[in-house]
Amino acid sequence: MILLTGGLGYIGSHTAVELAEAGYDVVIIDNLSNSKIDVVDKLEQIIGSPVKFYKGDCQDEELLRRIFMENDITAVMHFAGYKAVGESVEKPIEYYDNNINATLALLKVMKEFGVKNFVFSSSATVYGRAKSMPIYEDFEVSAANPYGRTKLFIEEILKDVQHADNSLNIAILRYFNPIGAHKSGLIGEDPNGIPNNLMPYITKVATGKLDHLNIFGNDYDTKDGTGVRDYIHVCDLALGHVKALKKLETAPGLVIYNLGTGTGYSVLEIVNTFNEVCGNLVKYEFAPRRAGDIDVCYASPEKAEKELGFKAQHTLKDMCESSYKFEKNNLK
Ligand code: NAD
Ligand code: UD1
Repeated sequence: MILLTGGLGYIGSHTAVELAEAGYDVVIIDNLSNSKIDVVDKLEQIIGSPVKFYKGDCQDEELLRRIFMENDITAVMHFAGYKAVGESVEKPIEYYDNNINATLALLKVMKEFGVKNFVFSSSATVYGRAKSMPIYEDFEVSAANPYGRTKLFIEEILKDVQHADNSLNIAILRYFNPIGAHKSGLIGEDPNGIPNNLMPYITKVATGKLDHLNIFGNDYDTKDGTGVRDYIHVCDLALGHVKALKKLETAPGLVIYNLGTGTGYSVLEIVNTFNEVCGNLVKYEFAPRRAGDIDVCYASPEKAEKELGFKAQHTLKDMCESSYKFEKNNLK
């Protein structure tokens, strides 16, 4: 049984589906701070069998003990955490508290129950302004905001914990930019309020909830002047977790992988592809650069391909189509 913390969220829910398809049983803990309970039903529809869910907080060690007692857990995938960069600048205490303490509580209880395998959701944000592209796992790391610093600190904590007990196997997965949704249209990214990130903003323009997209900057040193990122379909990303789990089953100690495609797309390429899919519904205007943004960011996916056998399969069109389908299905 695999425990998914934050398993009702965007990436955790898609990973639950991939794990079930690969034959793993999953159990989910989520406090619903950024997700909705109806994701449990949606997951059951997709997977075709009941999904075991505990509503509660990962910082609640008593609840964690109960979950470990009631289920034969062999690995933990830790998605739970706060993830909004801007909000982390406003509310650093909440971010350090939730992201770091939840991880510590889990590690403590895993130790009590002798659970050895742990997968952590890290981020490309830990590379800051990388010295060159593509980004390799051994590049220097840094953080520009409290959110990024929680990821960096947790990576350091995991290294210390694994150093002290080398029977632990830990995969740190540094995600690039996940977009897209499951092909059923039942689960996807559903942020509260006005989205900060590109694809959720685009889908809300396409369905008429927002008027137009502001493209932040058209004077970057890129192919068309707009920012370039490594967008990866969330179902590919989810599959990367199954591959990482299989790697942990070979007892590798602590391993770090980029999960990206290795291809950078510009904002304009994303919007143009999306418009092909939805029939030109996305109007845009150029706006000033967003503070803190970098021009280009894309992964070297080589290490994950070589050591995990992981290679992203979905195209940009798949990513746009599935994002749009989810948004249309979830018009509120
Ligand atoms: P999400 O907000 O959709 O999912 C996180 C889930 O965790 C939510 O369902 C939330 O209710 C739950 N949660 C938060 N704190 C909790 C706690 N203390 N106890 C129990 N549940 C809690 O986010 P996501 O996009 O699925 O991201 C998952 C992880 O991946 C996060 O750690 C995030 O920082 C990381 N990540 C995300 C991205 C991205 O672009 N989405 C990129 C890099 C890294
Ligand atoms: C986000 C996170 C970052 C994380 C990274 C990969 C934020 C602020 N940053 O950044 O911490 O490491 O994903 O997971 O959430 N854009 C527009 N208009 C919009 C929104 C975005 O033009 O309304 C542009 C941005 O300037 C950028 C691109 O679209 O060039 C992607 O933006 P976004 O989806 O926010 O991702 P990142 O900037 O990579």
